[in-house]
Amino acid sequence: MALTPGSSIGHYDVSALIGEGGMGQVWQATDTKLDRDVALKVLQEAFPPDCDRTVTASRRASFRSGHRAAVLVLLVALLLVDSSASAAQPPTPVHGQEGQDAPWVSTPQELVDTMLDIAAVQAGELLIDLGSGDGRLVITAAQRGARAIGVELDDGLVAVSRELAEDEGVADRTEFIRTDLVEYDFSAADVITFFLLPELTIRLRPTFFNLRPGTRIVSNTWDMRGTEEDPEAPGWDPDDTIVLDPCPGFCTAHAWTVPAKVDGLWTLDDAGELELQQRYQRVSGELRTGGRRITLQEGRLTGTILTFRAAGVHYRADIDGSAMDGTAHQGTETRRWGAARRP
Ligand SMILES: C[S@@+](CC[C@H](N)C(=O)[O-])C[C@H]1O[C@@H](n2cnc3c(N)ncnc32)[C@H](O)[C@@H]1O
Repeated sequence: MALTPGSSIGHYDVSALIGEGGMGQVWQATDTKLDRDVALKVLQEAFPPDCDRTVTASRRASFRSGHRAAVLVLLVALLLVDSSASAAQPPTPVHGQEGQDAPWVSTPQELVDTMLDIAAVQAGELLIDLGSGDGRLVITAAQRGARAIGVELDDGLVAVSRELAEDEGVADRTEFIRTDLVEYDFSAADVITFFLLPELTIRLRPTFFNLRPGTRIVSNTWDMRGTEEDPEAPGWDPDDTIVLDPCPGFCTAHAWTVPAKVDGLWTLDDAGELELQQRYQRVSGELRTGGRRITLQEGRLTGTILTFRAAGVHYRADIDGSAMDGTAHQGTETRRWGAARRP
């Protein structure tokens, strides 16, 4: 087996020869599982019986040409190349350990499954778990065909997650990024999951609310209503909540769909107007048409779909930026209606 710059062995990408002696060679390499530089010590092994023993001077050529020289890679001899990383392996994570904004406590697998069900994660979609712990939400989403990213600050948990993803055969659809979730741009996600403490959950609420309309957000236990001291309270109600019974430890999944933004004045196709006030997914306002002013009832946004009732007519419209288009339904009659946002 020949090692050359650019070759790989197991999960090590070899970059440069940094030493050579009677026993073998030392190569600089990257541990792709732990995403860190290491030194690989490669010992020369017993040659096959028909193989000439090479002298030391020719050994490098022999290694490089791959000339029948077998090598034994001694991973036990991993030396960290980067002296700043000389602390070796990250400490093994301990369940319950402190984290920057939340400790590591795992979501029970039954609730993981429920959270992904309620989010209706589809194959090919992107799920991002904020504070991904041992990666279980990410790995389970990938097993359902999604692409999934875990954002986690703890080195040990990132390493464990990568190994588990490898073991579960989903390494190609998963990524674990060691960074602070507060700094991380998760706007590309179709689905966000998290299990964080209430304070951080509320801090993230404006960022969540400004994600692309239609993005689904699912949390374990904590919601975004806010406490009584919260000036925004009552905040953002979940669109859906499921409580597992019997409870496997943590049993509540809350789900939200980021609503389109409709606050303001709209001109109806029939020249009437619609004035909307929006509070998260709740919508109130007035419909002015044919000389009448009708107060809206049951106004609600589910992602990009607006529904309300006015004078017994059920309105539904798809919101596309500054246009809405849909149907008005009363008894057996259904007609098309639409509106454009007034500049
Ligand atoms: C309660 S655990 C949830 C783990 C996983 N999402 C689950 O549901 O099983 C919260 C995780 O967030 C991580 N964490 C806390 N603050 C963080 C931050 N600011 N940035 C990234 N990760 C963080 C912790 O290390 C911990 O693993």
